[in-house]
Amino acid sequence: MNTVFPIGFPAPTALYLTLFVTTLLLHVVFMNYVLAGTAFLALAGLVKRKPADTGNATISSILRDWMPFAVSAAITMGVAPILFVQILYKENFYTANLLLFHRWMSIVPVLIVGFYLTYLLKSNKLATGQFALRIVVGFGAAACFGFTALSWTENHLLSLDRAVWTDMYAKGDIFYRSRVILPRLAMWFCGAFPTLATLVAWQLFSTQKNAPEPQRQRSARHIALIAAIGLTAFVASAIVYFWMMPPESRHAAIGPMSKPYLFVAGCGVVIQLAAWHLVFHRRRLTCVLLQLASFGALGTILGTLIARESIRISAIDFERLYSQHADAATKGGLLVFVAFAVVNAAAIAWCFRLVRRGRVRQLD
Ligand code: HEM
Repeated sequence: MNTVFPIGFPAPTALYLTLFVTTLLLHVVFMNYVLAGTAFLALAGLVKRKPADTGNATISSILRDWMPFAVSAAITMGVAPILFVQILYKENFYTANLLLFHRWMSIVPVLIVGFYLTYLLKSNKLATGQFALRIVVGFGAAACFGFTALSWTENHLLSLDRAVWTDMYAKGDIFYRSRVILPRLAMWFCGAFPTLATLVAWQLFSTQKNAPEPQRQRSARHIALIAAIGLTAFVASAIVYFWMMPPESRHAAIGPMSKPYLFVAGCGVVIQLAAWHLVFHRRRLTCVLLQLASFGALGTILGTLIARESIRISAIDFERLYSQHADAATKGGLLVFVAFAVVNAAAIAWCFRLVRRGRVRQLD
């Protein structure tokens, strides 16, 4: 296809593609907070927190307080794209799920364990107590969400690798091996840090108003460093991944469907780097700089997601599915979807207020 995403597709296909990418973007924002946030907390757990630190709004204290909420938001935000991905890609998505079988379903208990570990992470006793326990809980939570990210990556790549399906089924193999899994996972993992930095910076900005100046400056510099290192590692792993992809996927990634969006993603990286550079040197989080970083982060995520879709569309016989998309569009579920999306958004906003109110009281 020689047109820009989602132009050139029949209307129902274009609608489902747009809904899929938009809802997946929301999932990715919260998923990034969880993936990078738990990794950060695991490393922060290597250092014992002083009891005096427990009342301050630091990067770690914010992450610990918000992590259970972020996990539930990431999971909830995964539901809408999982509906659309099934309508859009049918056989490819289902086959990968079925081939991976128990290994795929294992993400459910792993997510439950990870979720409860994030509650344990909130405990002050744990943060100021035994080193071994802190490490088990911190690294345990990070491993649970890292494993979930690995599983989604493995499932996605397997869904596009039709050549191995028969062999895998015949052997009863439930693990998919490919040399591109690790660089692709590295791209997601590193890319999670700039998003985390942007979200935590907004949280610091709104909660640190009365904090001592040196603490605010320190937090601003730390968060800018996290974002800049994450962005650099993201670009490096994206380049490695790009060169390791099969040539057809490389052509699709930079083809007409995604080229303008890749430009948006690249501009997003530059805008973010510029914003974090200023934060670092001015030692201050300002509303304008945070808006700039957020704008850049959204551009980078959107561009990456559309390049991802262009590769998938080019790898399968997508035109064959148009009639099924048109059929799905006649089923009339859109109204129910929109109604539930509104109810869920309201419920999430309410939970957000509850956590925020509890946190403000705690800081008072
Ligand atoms: C908090 C734990 C989770 C993490 C860390 C996570 C991570 C990821 C990652 C890294 C991807 C991209 C995979 C790739 O393109 O290589 C992804 C995609 C996706 N995730 Fe999540 N995920 C989580 C939970 C969930 C849950 C519980 C759902 C469903 C309810 C979900 C729904 C999706 C969907 C639909 C996609 C797109 C799949 C595709 O296009 O093939 N995620 N997730």
